[in-house]
Amino acid sequence: MGLARRITAPGRVNLIGDHTDYNLGLALPVAIDLGTTVEFTPTDSSRVNLYSTLYPVGINLPVDLPLDPVVLGQLEPPWSRLVAAMIGLVHPETGGIGRIETTLPIGAGLSSSAAFMVALAGALGASGTPRGIARLVQQAETFSGVPVGIMDPLVCAGGRAGHGLLIDFATLDTEDVPIPADVELVVADSGVRRSLRATPYASRVAECEAAAVITGPLGQADEADVAGIRDPDLRRRARHVVSECDRVRRVAAALADDDLPTVGALLVESHRSLATDFEVSTPELDALVARLCSIDGVYGARLTGAGFGGCVVALTRPGAVDLDGLGTRAWRLVPSDGTCAREEATVSGAPDGNPEAVGVGG
Ligand code: GLA
Repeated sequence: MGLARRITAPGRVNLIGDHTDYNLGLALPVAIDLGTTVEFTPTDSSRVNLYSTLYPVGINLPVDLPLDPVVLGQLEPPWSRLVAAMIGLVHPETGGIGRIETTLPIGAGLSSSAAFMVALAGALGASGTPRGIARLVQQAETFSGVPVGIMDPLVCAGGRAGHGLLIDFATLDTEDVPIPADVELVVADSGVRRSLRATPYASRVAECEAAAVITGPLGQADEADVAGIRDPDLRRRARHVVSECDRVRRVAAALADDDLPTVGALLVESHRSLATDFEVSTPELDALVARLCSIDGVYGARLTGAGFGGCVVALTRPGAVDLDGLGTRAWRLVPSDGTCAREEATVSGAPDGNPEAVGVGG
């Protein structure tokens, strides 16, 4: 039996730049102080056992499972497909026993899935740069059937305390953007649960691909390119991506100038664009954004992540929002280090297979 590896990966809240990653555009997400820990002890077994209290039965997979989307697609429960894909990519030498704990809400749009996968990659023995880890996670998610972008694992692995991570998805270059000390990030849950598997996420990806056949990658297109798209639905999808990338640039500049009212106005514009042009909002998300924006001291708010449910993020003066008064789960989140900036913990002794709070998904 080898030494147990215990790896924690944070979730993320995307301050601005949604549905831009798979379009080679820009985004500014933040790693947060909620996250997922995977503790894994290699054993002589040829099987990987993982335990979760969210599910009555743990999962048990052979270490040499083929990396075949058809085989993976038949595994139940669905999160075992993610685990199987990561095992197939990391090729751990032996099986072992693992335990997962999380402080993230599952399926709420705070990257519970990417946090789990980044932590799992490290716990199974993968190491590397944030880009390398993020590519691994993106590949595993794609093999398991969800064609996600690279934003979530990149910030879960590469975020830095006190900063947002400005990402250019065309190059995967990143820049740490300081979040001013005199603001708070408040995240509130619309209560509408979703898993990307069960939303039109993949059809938005396909629509953007169809628009990009006309314009080239939407993240590098401009308004004139958008005007040349004849199909009205594709034109609106493209307009969102082009305008969103511009807003990301302006938010990064306004944060550097400590111009918080401008940041707030851009967050609100982003929400409007996601709701009307990209059509990924819900009445609950719209109501929560309106509610937050009506509070004195809130600079702006928007849905964050894929949409179709999940959370909104607000930028506020410290203490402006009474979390208990929102009538829904809400958090003040602290910009935190990603996994690659944390000490990897190696602990002796095997996990007892009797986990506490555990979860993956979303
Ligand atoms: C989900 C995906 C990301 C990204 C966002 C939307 O979180 O996992 O890759 O596409 O939606 O910005």
